[in-house]
Amino acid sequence: MTPSAMIAEFDDGAGWTADAVEQLGERHAIPAACRGSADPAALAWLAEACELSPGSRLLDVGAGVGGPAAWAAKRFGVRPVLVEPMPVACRAAARLFGLPVVRASGERLPIRAESVDAAWCLGVLCTVVDKAALLREIHRVLGPNAPLGLLVVVARSPRSFPAPDGNLFPTQRELEELLATTGFDLIEQIDRPGGAPLSWSRRAEQVAAVVARRHRDDRAFALAARQSESFARLFASGQVSMRLIHAVKRP
Ligand SMILES: C[S@@+](CC[C@H](N)C(=O)[O-])C[C@H]1O[C@@H](n2cnc3c(N)ncnc32)[C@H](O)[C@@H]1O
Repeated sequence: MTPSAMIAEFDDGAGWTADAVEQLGERHAIPAACRGSADPAALAWLAEACELSPGSRLLDVGAGVGGPAAWAAKRFGVRPVLVEPMPVACRAAARLFGLPVVRASGERLPIRAESVDAAWCLGVLCTVVDKAALLREIHRVLGPNAPLGLLVVVARSPRSFPAPDGNLFPTQRELEELLATTGFDLIEQIDRPGGAPLSWSRRAEQVAAVVARRHRDDRAFALAARQSESFARLFASGQVSMRLIHAVKRP
């Protein structure tokens, strides 16, 4: 069962974000809808590593509100397909960006084998119990030698601390083993490059402020805020960090 804190964070929060963007204007949409903590530098690294090109089909698994996929469509001309299990998040992504969104879990993708040119899965793996099943499904739908871009929160050491509800962070080593056993060659990995420009983070913060003003008395808002605080503490103490990964499907 999905923990209620995750529903609050990924579903209630998604709808509230879309409402606030509609109030503030379209230029707020992409920064506010990047909810895996990807920023322009991280997205550009992933896009260049995956050699995204105009017209190519990019599958975004666990797409959330669709910010990263919309960014890739705008900057690199890809044709994204979004997969996301939370119903309100699916509607929010379709509303904000008009992109095709399929409601499904990454472990059972309703997508034809070898039908996509590249896949992204950003900030998702740590929320999934059967990480190997999700990676195997992505492997199935990717074309031969096609690239996979991941943003993953990794633990410094094996589960020696309480994780936010619903999260299971792999260690760096576990992640590398997972990729190898699910049929991927790891090409390159880096720590997430730091710092979005102020103009980007201010737009995201303005949306967050509208959401807080409207919903601070909701139980779901308190649950989502607790998740964020718990993440912030883990990052600040160095117990987790964010990695960007470029892998390719092994034939
Ligand atoms: C931290 S958010 C990241 C959203 C988006 N990728 C981004 O970077 O903005 C994690 C997302 O993974 C989704 N998710 C959780 N479990 C999943 C699963 N089994 N398969 C696919 N997506 C999942 C959540 O609903 C949520 O939208």
